Amino acid sequence: MIAGNWKMNKSPAETVKLIAELKKIQTKTNAEVVVCPMTVSLFAASAQLKDSEIKLGAQNVHFEDKGAFTGEVNCASLKELGVEYVILGHSERRQYFGETDETVNKKTLKVLEQGLKPIVCVGESLEQKQIGITNEVVCLQTKAALCGVTSAQIRDVVIAYEPVWAIGTGMTATASDANQTIAAIRKAIREVFGYAADDVRILYGGSMNDKNAGELMSQPEIDGGLIGGASLIAEKFEKVINYNR
Ligand code: PGA
Repeated sequence: MIAGNWKMNKSPAETVKLIAELKKIQTKTNAEVVVCPMTVSLFAASAQLKDSEIKLGAQNVHFEDKGAFTGEVNCASLKELGVEYVILGHSERRQYFGETDETVNKKTLKVLEQGLKPIVCVGESLEQKQIGITNEVVCLQTKAALCGVTSAQIRDVVIAYEPVWAIGTGMTATASDANQTIAAIRKAIREVFGYAADDVRILYGGSMNDKNAGELMSQPEIDGGLIGGASLIAEKFEKVINYNR
């Protein structure tokens, strides 16, 4: 899976333009391609993606069905717009908007119950990396997010391992470090869900771009990428999708 996290970029009109460019891409791999525009651009994106293989994702959702939650959006409305995936627990949401392991878990359960697929983000901070607790942190975040997920649902879950220090900084984890951490995440999922863990797609994210995508994605444990900056430029995103090993 190659998923573009557009963050707070691309207005509805700009979204239509970028998707028009992305639709021209001839995918040479078997990657499932997903774009995740801002909430206000989802409607325009959905219309533009009608005759396309590219899937639509959202960047967040609320864990309740409806009610007095000013400014929030619910799963039912995302589904109505043709959204299939929802990014949950991105580190920017954890850092700036009070997202916690508990709310990520509630959202994961709601998204799955509503027939959407979560892309759950986990990742360690620079301090946590420096003191050597990366695996503990990401495995805890993963298990907390998946608490209460059923064995029938686990295959619809996507995990994105995104070291916080690598996001938007131009610094990436080395391919072998990313591979090892993702192996640890898969082991944690296996402890709870058995060999269904082998079917869970685990992506790498954090300054993945047209230059390093091939090396990262040729690692055996890495099932794709969650791409921020490089997903906003069609030529770069194309090179990530059609990466060379
Ligand atoms: P980046 O963002 O590719 O710009 O580092 C990735 C992400 O935050 O999902």
